[in-house]
Amino acid sequence: MEVIICPNAKRVGEVAAAKAARIAAPIGAKVVLGVATGSSPVQTFTELARLANAGELDLSEASAFALDEYVGIAKGHPESYHEIIRKTVTEPMGLDPARVHVPNGFADDLPAACVAYEEAIKAAGGVDIQFLGVGSNGHIGFNEPTSSLSSRTRIKTLAARTREDNARFFDSIDQVPRHCLTQGLGTIMDARHVILVATGPGKAHAIAQVVEGPITAMYPGSVLQLHQHATIVVDEEAAAELSLVDYYKQTYANLPDWQRLDV
Ligand code: GLP
Repeated sequence: MEVIICPNAKRVGEVAAAKAARIAAPIGAKVVLGVATGSSPVQTFTELARLANAGELDLSEASAFALDEYVGIAKGHPESYHEIIRKTVTEPMGLDPARVHVPNGFADDLPAACVAYEEAIKAAGGVDIQFLGVGSNGHIGFNEPTSSLSSRTRIKTLAARTREDNARFFDSIDQVPRHCLTQGLGTIMDARHVILVATGPGKAHAIAQVVEGPITAMYPGSVLQLHQHATIVVDEEAAAELSLVDYYKQTYANLPDWQRLDV
């Protein structure tokens, strides 16, 4: 794992976007992005959009696959992940909406929608760069604690803590859906590169468990320790419970020239 500790949230977005742009450059216009909802990656997406609009990153034929979607919330609902991805990814980055995919949480046959989603990812050639946030309970996507480490896209029941965390986006907690469709941990692990971003003190414990804890389904993000190309970009607050902070900072400060990010 590569762990990069930044002074603030804005810098997290800049560094994560620069890392993604570095990975995307040799892939070219047809890069396949894995995109996440939540507040964490918003700055990264804003910066990616800036790079794309400035002609520094070619997303002209890019595809995107979202991690997850609530079950039972219509596509146009402001809190549907369809809508959030449209606002934070598709429009600012100028992606062709036909190439932006979100699991269909409103399908009559949800298991079939999950299978179709896996097939669509495969048909696109797999995800090149998967962006992730992390839940305060260590979930990635909506893979709640005890998720199979090899799971595929499926229906999940949201943990009470996740519903409490996400209640801020709804009028009351009763409106937060109880179920979702989410890419599995196995699906996420198939991405060729993974970039996880986290900011703020509320993520400090989850980050410590994901990066330095044992690999366990109790902190689903810890499966990323098995990924060959996982980059974790955090601010000082989210890094607060890591034990090897000095090592991560020294490593980043002393990167060889060819690995340095131009930010
Ligand atoms: C949500 C999403 C995750 C996201 C996480 C953290 O429930 N399903 O993909 O990473 O919770 O959200 P935030 O970044 O707003 O803290």
